[in-house]
Amino acid sequence: MIILDGKKTANDIKNEIAREVEILKSKGLKVPHLAAILVGNDGASLTYVNSKVKACDKVGFNSTLIHLKDTISQEQLLQEIENLNNNNDIDGYIVQLPLPKHIDEQKVLIAVNPNKDVDGFHPTNVGKMTLELPTFLPATPFGILELLERYKIETQGKNVVVLGRSHIVGRPISILLSQKRKVGNATVTLCHSRTKNLRDFTKKADIIVAAIGFPEFLTGEMVKDGVVIIDVGITRVKDVTKKRGYRLAGDVHFDSVSKKASYITPVPGGVGPMTIAMLLKNTLLAVKNFI
Ligand code: GUN
Repeated sequence: MIILDGKKTANDIKNEIAREVEILKSKGLKVPHLAAILVGNDGASLTYVNSKVKACDKVGFNSTLIHLKDTISQEQLLQEIENLNNNNDIDGYIVQLPLPKHIDEQKVLIAVNPNKDVDGFHPTNVGKMTLELPTFLPATPFGILELLERYKIETQGKNVVVLGRSHIVGRPISILLSQKRKVGNATVTLCHSRTKNLRDFTKKADIIVAAIGFPEFLTGEMVKDGVVIIDVGITRVKDVTKKRGYRLAGDVHFDSVSKKASYITPVPGGVGPMTIAMLLKNTLLAVKNFI
């Protein structure tokens, strides 16, 4: 069993990006600038956004964190987005999800300038991705493709089972892995909460992407020997033995599944760091107008 080391791979990617930033600087070109909007004080979202800002420092990007109260009105939030759209120094930005219930997420995402939408969530960019046109790929699916590529894991002709149909992970990775691309050409089955006899699907899978947000859902008896496991889940589970009062659990029961897997991502240190690295990569693409 081989651990797919997302932390190390993400560091390699960040070092590659840092070298590119040095080249941009030496040519007197613009330093990439990523902004993030965070609404409210959700603990997990705060951690993610702070990690994204820290990663910008590491690669030499400029970053701006716009931290707004969870009482902000939709109009005020849309105004903040308009400001970022009009700010020529900002190359790309994200609106951290989830948003408070009184805000219409669709209205917010559609307000983002697609050319600055480094999360790849705008309908224009989702459409381009689906049609295999150049665009920003959403960071988590992009990170999964990159991890599979760098570990030379064959996807062509493989049976892939994706667990979860979220707009951020499940839906886009199921589309991407079925496309005619280097890491693609797979036969993809998208399973979700209404899937009947789930185990019949997972048992036949060569590769499983687990993205349902339900801790330790996938267990050893649900998978076949040699399966490749990509665990996207990261849930805080109460644990009184830990100083901070919780531990981080993936969607995969690591102990039982790792005994049968050929490759597996750990949680933490698997998909999470890759997401951040690919967000930086998208920001670099935005600066270079590659998209
Ligand atoms: N919430 C969970 N994952 C993500 C992500 O990739 N981007 C944003 N903006 N919010 C998220």
